[in-house]
Amino acid sequence: MATAQIYPSLLAADFGRIAEAALAVEGRADWLHVDVMDYHFVPNLAFSGDTVTALRKVTDTPLDCHLMISDPDRWAPGFAERGASNVTIHAEAVENLPRTTDAIRAAGARTGLAVKPATPVEAYADELHRFDLLLLMTIEPGFGGQKFMDSVLPKIEAARALLDRRGLDLWLQIDGGVSAETIERAAAAGVDVFVAGTAVYGLADPGAAVEALREQALRASPRLSPPGREAAV
Ligand code: DX5
Ligand code: ZN
Repeated sequence: MATAQIYPSLLAADFGRIAEAALAVEGRADWLHVDVMDYHFVPNLAFSGDTVTALRKVTDTPLDCHLMISDPDRWAPGFAERGASNVTIHAEAVENLPRTTDAIRAAGARTGLAVKPATPVEAYADELHRFDLLLLMTIEPGFGGQKFMDSVLPKIEAARALLDRRGLDLWLQIDGGVSAETIERAAAAGVDVFVAGTAVYGLADPGAAVEALREQALRASPRLSPPGREAAV
């Protein structure tokens, strides 16, 4: 059994009110998703290490940093040092994967591997044991509000099968276009961790949106359990 987890993406929040956005989902979101962009790996600029330091002071919700940057080998451990609980690096950008994952762990965080829609997971099958999380992008990274790519669904199913076959206990996360309209088919395909930006912060009550998305995921997948119920199943 895996836990159904919803991670609101602060990229979709009002940038003038990031603290309020974090607090709006406290106690309801499992983690907060913090996108880091560098105008290089993706054509957009977003949060930094200073954002992580600032958020750590306003919320106890764990922070999930998604590094859409070049040279994550150099920068990823710093996000863990600043208090991120997970640091995800892109397969397309990392140079020395073992050294970088070791450095993130040494700094006290979990670590994730992200792949763009066109990047095959199989190419990294023998490296997955180094990670706690596998992020399959369901949009081209860079911007929120894009359409969920249904073409990634077979890749999700294949990744779920690969993790199960190899006995790898990674969380399977998706990011991009997750909404009330799309979350059920992603859950059915094997996802357990859902990043949602627009579908949380675009709604009047972000906390209620988180709960509703989690309920939908739970209904769509018998292998998912609610948070805090793992021991009961
Ligand atoms: C985009 C980011 C996402 C983004 C998702 O590259 O990685 O986290 O916030 O936004 P939505 O949920 O609106 O597609
Ligand atoms: Zn993201």
